[in-house]
Amino acid sequence: MTATALDTPTALRPLPPGPRGWPLVGHIPALRKHGMLGFMDRSWAEYGDVFAMDVGFHAVVIAHPDGIKRVLAGNAKNYIKGKTYDGVRRVIGNGLLALEGEAWKTRRALVQPAFHRAALGKLTEAMVESGRQHFDALKEKHGTAAFTLDAHRDMVTLTLDVVVAALFGRDLGGAAEVSYEALGTAMELVGERSNGLVLPKWVPTPGNRRFHRTMEEVEGAVYRVIEAGRRKTTDDGTLLSMLLNSKDAETGQLLSDRDVRDEVFTMFVAGHETTALTLTWLFTLLDGRPEVIAKMRAEVDTVLGDRDPGFEDYPKLPYLRQVIDETLRLRGPVAMNARTAVADDEILGLRIKAGDIVMPYFYGAHRHPDFWDKPNEFDPDRFSAERSAGRNPWSYVPFSAGQRQCIGNTFSLVETVVLLAQLLRRFDVEVQPGAGEVKPLAIVTVRPDRPVMVTLRPRVR
Ligand code: HEM
Repeated sequence: MTATALDTPTALRPLPPGPRGWPLVGHIPALRKHGMLGFMDRSWAEYGDVFAMDVGFHAVVIAHPDGIKRVLAGNAKNYIKGKTYDGVRRVIGNGLLALEGEAWKTRRALVQPAFHRAALGKLTEAMVESGRQHFDALKEKHGTAAFTLDAHRDMVTLTLDVVVAALFGRDLGGAAEVSYEALGTAMELVGERSNGLVLPKWVPTPGNRRFHRTMEEVEGAVYRVIEAGRRKTTDDGTLLSMLLNSKDAETGQLLSDRDVRDEVFTMFVAGHETTALTLTWLFTLLDGRPEVIAKMRAEVDTVLGDRDPGFEDYPKLPYLRQVIDETLRLRGPVAMNARTAVADDEILGLRIKAGDIVMPYFYGAHRHPDFWDKPNEFDPDRFSAERSAGRNPWSYVPFSAGQRQCIGNTFSLVETVVLLAQLLRRFDVEVQPGAGEVKPLAIVTVRPDRPVMVTLRPRVR
């Protein structure tokens, strides 16, 4: 057959293979049985690094670092967030996470300075103060007795306090207080509202009334923060001040309350549960690994002695960072993201059609046997400087990568290190038996399928 103008190489490529669902019910039985991540892993093992699946929508999953690079960097302009982010948009509106094109570029440039290295010293002070208040209150409450807590619940309270204090200032933080409970519900609803994207249709969704009620409550708190912020005349270097004072370069107009609300919501949503989950999963991975706990504790004791950390201590706690990196590899809070292809493309020899939903599967790249030795083993030492040398950067992307990578990347790594150091300085950590068996459930973030219980015993010095 002679080639015609229509026979572009891309059009000639085979489509990605993938599991076939049952008539009518599709993959629902398999999803029920194995969960989304289990189902994806099984399909990956059977069909290879690029495969198609129908889980209420048709998606092409990409588990190879080269394919992920193509979507997020090499040909990024072909892959937009599109409709797949509509569920998240219902909560965060047009915040940074959901914007596209020029509007995204302008907003990213505006928000970026709040996360620059120069700003991190001050942000770290706010983190450490939140950690100090939180852990000292626990110590005060329990005295010298050991106590057991639900790690996820506890860490969510703490990381929300951090994000409010660091980004909006402690004096305005009070205005957001009412939102703690409601925000938790809002987060659940983001997951449930993203139904068509990552949840099979059979997951029961709560009614619209609950959604609107929760949103009104959280919104009330956010508008109170904005109002209080507008009354302040000084720029205190927080993200809120930056948002309230920044003007459009051409028109000189300030951001509207609605724009500021969307950005505040975005930072609330993107900025606390992710870090709380990282710490929660870290505890599960410590199950049966007392030597890792002992090594972290020794590092903390040597570097900090009897004081809390500051920003300058962050690089001095490399083993803590290794444990966190390894946690993010195996149990990062974001297992995958989603893009919509604008035009046809080719990935690893297979055809991507315009309109396809393409899902870079970070958990795939993080455990790809061509890039990782014993990929399913928890081994913090694989992140030592020597063993990290020469690693393909696209095989490890817990914060995504390319221009849309997480703006809070360094913020959250510093936060996780300092909070963990503060915890280890005050308590002996005992992970309850069975924590290692907790299963990851991918909703929007990857959550534990049951409470992760951790016993803390105040240290006697
Ligand atoms: C362990 C903690 C965190 C992880 C694993 C994480 C992961 C991610 C990932 C994978 C993305 C890309 C999402 C996509 O492509 O749709 C992202 C984007 C984003 N993250 Fe994070 N994140 C974390 C913490 C934070 C924190 C602490 C903040 C803010 C205080 C934050 C704010 C954002 C924002 C605003 C975006 C959108 C950036 C843009 O599109 O320009 N994240 N994050």
